[in-house]
Amino acid sequence: MIQFQLNGETVTSESPDDTPLLWVIRDELKLKGTKFGCGIAQCGACTVHLDGAPVRSCSVPLAAVGGMAVTTIEGLDSSEGQALKEAWVTEQVPQCGYCQSGQIMQAADLLANNPSPSDDEIHNAMNGNLCRCMSYHRIHRAIRTAANGGGE
Ligand code: FES
Ligand code: FES
Repeated sequence: MIQFQLNGETVTSESPDDTPLLWVIRDELKLKGTKFGCGIAQCGACTVHLDGAPVRSCSVPLAAVGGMAVTTIEGLDSSEGQALKEAWVTEQVPQCGYCQSGQIMQAADLLANNPSPSDDEIHNAMNGNLCRCMSYHRIHRAIRTAANGGGE
């Protein structure tokens, strides 16, 4: 039995220790905002924060999160997170939407550590988050909008 914090609340899972965190979040705890893409830590769709740092939840075993704080897109309420969510709407970023919660979780980590990233820094930080709809240009623009406080 593993206990951890999920979006500020204590949760308990009785799944086997090697169950991917993504499975626990989606199937057991019913938060569906975090998506399953590749399942092998290659696409970023499943990105959540673990004690504040982005991780690929498809590749983190449940046993590794005991006593830690997990934040998903549903619980992302930091100032960076709010600014990004607003910028995502302003810039009309998503197409199918499948990759987008992972993109925002990754971008929130970038802005938390670097509030005014350069274009290269944005590119490097977001490099591992894939979008099959090719919304990369709008993602980049939204991150710049959020970093600029909502306007260019
Ligand atoms: S589903 Fe986890 S990185 Fe692709
Ligand atoms: S918006 Fe469709 S995968 Fe990114």
